[in-house]
Amino acid sequence: MYLEKLELKHFRNYEDVNVAFSPQVNVLIGKNAQGKTNLLESIYVLAMARSHRTSNDREMVTFKKDAALIRGEVHQRLGNTKLELLISRKGKKAKVNYLEKARLSQYIGQLNVILFAPEDLALVKGAPSVRRRFIDMEFGQIDALYLHALTEYRAVLRQRNKYLKELQTKKATDKVYLEILSEQLSESGSQIIFKRLEFLQELEKYADKLHNQITQGKEHLQFQYESTLKEYQGKSVLELKQSLVEQYKTMMDKEIFQGTTLLGPHRDDVRFMLNDKNVQVYGSQGQQRTAALSVKLAEIDLMKEKTHEYPILLLDDVLSELDGARQTHLLKTIQNKVQTFLTTPGLSDVAQQLINKPKIFRIDNGKITEENSFTIEEE
Ligand SMILES: Nc1ncnc2c1ncn2[C@@H]1O[C@H](COP(=O)(O)OP(=O)(O)O)[C@@H](O)[C@H]1O
Ligand SMILES: [Mg+2]
Repeated sequence: MYLEKLELKHFRNYEDVNVAFSPQVNVLIGKNAQGKTNLLESIYVLAMARSHRTSNDREMVTFKKDAALIRGEVHQRLGNTKLELLISRKGKKAKVNYLEKARLSQYIGQLNVILFAPEDLALVKGAPSVRRRFIDMEFGQIDALYLHALTEYRAVLRQRNKYLKELQTKKATDKVYLEILSEQLSESGSQIIFKRLEFLQELEKYADKLHNQITQGKEHLQFQYESTLKEYQGKSVLELKQSLVEQYKTMMDKEIFQGTTLLGPHRDDVRFMLNDKNVQVYGSQGQQRTAALSVKLAEIDLMKEKTHEYPILLLDDVLSELDGARQTHLLKTIQNKVQTFLTTPGLSDVAQQLINKPKIFRIDNGKITEENSFTIEEE
């Protein structure tokens, strides 16, 4: 799939823009703070109905305006889809082909994006929450049931934590209600763990292949899911649910004492192993970056397998963070296959030579102008 057209109204520093993109590589060139990331963010939000930068939607609306509008036309194998997202004080309104969707989960998944920003190079060595977020965002796009389970889980988790606090401070005493919440949490929690294990195995196939290529056959990359739940490998959803319920029972006193939920997918993690060693602990920075790159690129293949369409790729300032060999690898993997948007203050010679017929946009203080070649000089 690819994004053919984009229209923004009062989105961050864009007042009113209309752009048509190349199905291949789109280069967004501009100095600092001109709106490059804002543009990528708008595409991300059009796809995911939430920002990767902020959980406060208000921030995306231009200062002193009431609402931001993002419209896009997505080209897919089976025809074009028109997406529209309105962000206002009252919340978000999402439309697919002019029809409003009652739930955002019915909207997400029309446009699939993979975003790669410098922070993602920290996917391997960052906190567990970084990896969980990555998994949830990516798997949520390709599986509506996963997204649904997540939404469910988050809601019950909030309730359960609140109730545990009440038990902790003795405002409440009824443990039967806690058991009901535990049961509900185990229901969605078991689905999440089951799907994570399944998806990770599939993603690993692609990631290992790419990583092995980038390292010229020297390294193998593997994922290892680390759950707070004991014995989770090779179990059915139902078995996982039963184990969760059991483990919540044995942990009850501890959870009440701490006033929070200590067990479940919101506490799980993934380890990245290179030749059987944990990269997070033993890997060099270069190895960690390569692993992160492999994982990101693997998502492209996984999404293609699951949705039968290539996603679009958003690369925010990452090219300059990678050395020549990794830049080459990245650009060769995506060329002629994946619609790509990449932001940069300027392109290296390597990149200029490698990118086939790019469409180039100059971003200057919320204004977008198309340029014919790379040759325009930077100041
Ligand atoms: N809600 C908003 N309304 C107007 N301008 C905004 C808003 N949010 C951010 N900006 C402006 O956007 C600019 C940053 O854009 P960004 O896309 O992050 O820059 P870069 O080109 O470096 O990626 C800043 O000048 C900031 O003031
Ligand atoms: Mg930026």
